Amino acid sequence: MEAIILVGGFGTRLRPLTLTVPKPLLPLANVPMLERLVRELPAAFDTVLLAVNYRADDIALHFGKIDAGRRVIVVPEAEPLGTGGAMRNCRDHVTGTAAVFNGDVVSSLDLTAMLAQHRATGARGTLALWEVADPSRYGVVELRGSEILQFQEKPTPGTELSRLINAGTYLLEPEVLDLIPAGRKVSVEREIFPVVAGDGLYGFPFDGYWVDAGTPESYLEANRLLLDRQATASHRGAEIRGRALIADDARLDGCIVGPDAVIGPGAQLTDCEVRHSVVLGGTTAREALIAEAIVGPDITLAGGCRREVVAPEGRGAW
Ligand code: GDD
Ligand code: MG
Repeated sequence: MEAIILVGGFGTRLRPLTLTVPKPLLPLANVPMLERLVRELPAAFDTVLLAVNYRADDIALHFGKIDAGRRVIVVPEAEPLGTGGAMRNCRDHVTGTAAVFNGDVVSSLDLTAMLAQHRATGARGTLALWEVADPSRYGVVELRGSEILQFQEKPTPGTELSRLINAGTYLLEPEVLDLIPAGRKVSVEREIFPVVAGDGLYGFPFDGYWVDAGTPESYLEANRLLLDRQATASHRGAEIRGRALIADDARLDGCIVGPDAVIGPGAQLTDCEVRHSVVLGGTTAREALIAEAIVGPDITLAGGCRREVVAPEGRGAW
């Protein structure tokens, strides 16, 4: 079976981090976001199609260096084709039911259970659904039983059909991909889902956690959620408080680490305190307080630095 991962966008809200590392390769709990998604797919998905519209070479290079346990094919776009166009561009590689993922989402979705429901209902398409307080920034569905009757993308506040949003993971039969016009930009959410709604489109609500890791705040939140699933770290050069993840070759001396801290490979920290933060690989710091921050990669913090706030638009990322 094939999985299609939509890898688009410039990651502008995560600048300056994304000036050096393409967003799909930014680490979450020390594993690049996209690599994590590929590795965690159920075994039935033996082929992954990466629908990429930006920095395809960097992404191909990364997957050329690692063994993600399945075949990975990069399907580049000469120009951005939108969510639907990007899927359609992968059509020739698809042999049956395909899973499609928005590449920037981290969640506890059980894809195997979703696939079982997809088969049981005989759906043409099944969308994972997540409940939020304010659905206006998302795709919103009207659900009856498990059938999606209507789909609205980013409705005007006050007109939302429900608080159940499109969580950005789909199971689609090839016939749905065939509905997408080829060779032009298409939004699957605006042009295709509203048409298939009421005609074989089903929803799969789930709970646990869900986060779109596209802003500094949600990037830290995604790291924190993933730490819940890791063993507590120990380190000779640091006092660990609560959950923390420390790369094997990070060097810590006289540090206090955690709660919710991720220290990347090759980091060298002396007499620092790090909490609720991600220190990316290759960062060197001495006598710094790093709190609620994303730091690095490959920078040196002068002695005595204090950074405590991640500002919107990535201004707090150093
Ligand atoms: N290859 C490719 N080409 N990928 C694209 C393109 C493109 O032209 N445009 C967007 N993508 C990718 C993005 O990188 C992301 O992984 C995914 O498609 C969704 O696009 P976003 O731009 O992140 O959309 P959104 O967050 O505003 O809304 C989408 O996600 C919500 C959940 O986070 C929609 O699917 C909503 O309905 C949904 O609720
Ligand atoms: Mg998004």
